[in-house]
Amino acid sequence: MSDTNTQNNKKTKRESRMVKVWDLPTRAFHWSLVAMVFIGLVTGYIAPEWWMGLHIWAGYITVTLLVFRLVWGVFGSEYARLETFTFSFSHIISHMKEIVTLRPVRHYIGHNPSGAVMIFALLLVLSIITVSGLLVLGGEENQGPMAGAASYAVSEIAAPIHSIFVVLLVIMVVLHIGGVILEGKITGENLVLSMITGLKRVPEGTAPLVHRQARPLAAILVTATFFAIGGSLLAAFATMPPSGLNHLEPNKVYETDCGDCHLPYHPSLLPAKSWEQMMATLDDHFGEDATLGADSVNEITTYLVNNAAEKWDTEAANRFKNIDPEYPMQITKTSYWIRKHHEISPETFKIKGVGVKSNCGGCHTDHYTGRFDDQKIKIPKAK
Ligand code: HEC
Ligand code: HEC
Repeated sequence: MSDTNTQNNKKTKRESRMVKVWDLPTRAFHWSLVAMVFIGLVTGYIAPEWWMGLHIWAGYITVTLLVFRLVWGVFGSEYARLETFTFSFSHIISHMKEIVTLRPVRHYIGHNPSGAVMIFALLLVLSIITVSGLLVLGGEENQGPMAGAASYAVSEIAAPIHSIFVVLLVIMVVLHIGGVILEGKITGENLVLSMITGLKRVPEGTAPLVHRQARPLAAILVTATFFAIGGSLLAAFATMPPSGLNHLEPNKVYETDCGDCHLPYHPSLLPAKSWEQMMATLDDHFGEDATLGADSVNEITTYLVNNAAEKWDTEAANRFKNIDPEYPMQITKTSYWIRKHHEISPETFKIKGVGVKSNCGGCHTDHYTGRFDDQKIKIPKAK
């Protein structure tokens, strides 16, 4: 696309011309980021949990985009360069006043000072969101490159940070869109269109003194180097086995004796105390007589107690440790279980393949690992 002169446009009042302001990579970055933020918000807030895979990919691509944008901020063409929109504090304040009072004083070809502040803030907030997201993924879900390095305790710190900054992001997106509309009203410029075409109308005489060309080769090299280093670091982290996920040899006696009436629950789903109490009261096991021989009771008790919730650092184990004191032997009576499943209708629990709510395996295809990954939830179709 060339900087064709479209002066004969019907709306030209003052002498003005179109110049190429946003290069293609900058525009591609902008709209890809819009798409990733949109996917991230939808999969984070609205879509069911098994869409988590998409959420994670949106995060990885966002990081890639952020890194690329910083590199392009050094090697891109004139108005993509960060230095062209690094303004002084007083400059920013006076521009904000101009916006609020709807009185433009100066025309900016590239980013204006308020827009620039928003961009730096967005880059920062998105970095915090993606890094905290990676820690939640590793610590809480035992997934991703930080699964081995981040414990559940780390994710308990990272999770609220992730949520708070997402709220901040939403506010900033609203402000950003508001700013674009307002700026359009003041200058009569369609900023959305110019982020698509790359062209902006500038008054005659405000042409830049210098227009530095992009250095794509340098940008590619630096980006590639960054990903080579960052990638190997993450790959090194990823070789650590997921923290808090133990290797569990299945126990035959447990599986046959306790798997008779319902699935053999993963030992990490209740604390040791609960298992001990349950194994001591098998003659009245939820109204059933589940009495076993002394040998079996011993073996099963040892197995359950040795692998109880306290021994794991998964989200499920950390949550189900907090049993309801009134129902110390029921996973399904914990406040966490109830909260996670309250949206599921009683009919859904009754469908073929599930039957009862305590049949975890009906919906959680990875229940026997104790992981309960969001992506592994598959509710069978009715009928
Ligand atoms: C005779 C059948 C029977 C046998 C054998 C049996 N259970 Fe149960 N179990 C039940 C019933 C019935 C319930 C209560 C209904 C429900 O929650 O599905 C239950 C519930 C449970 C629960 C609570 C699930 C929840 O709702 O959170 C756990 C945990 C459990 N059993 C563990 C065991 C263990 C461990 C063994 C082996 C020592 C065992 N069961 C053997 C019938 C049995
Ligand atoms: C009818 C299907 C169904 C059954 C049966 C079921 N779950 Fe779930 N479970 C779900 C759904 C759906 C979610 C996601 C809820 C949400 O959107 O937050 C979920 C979420 C969870 C989570 C949180 C996962 C995470 O990372 O956020 C855990 C842990 C869990 N279930 C454990 C259990 C256990 C233990 C049992 C058996 C005692 C069980 N579930 C039975 C459908 C089921």
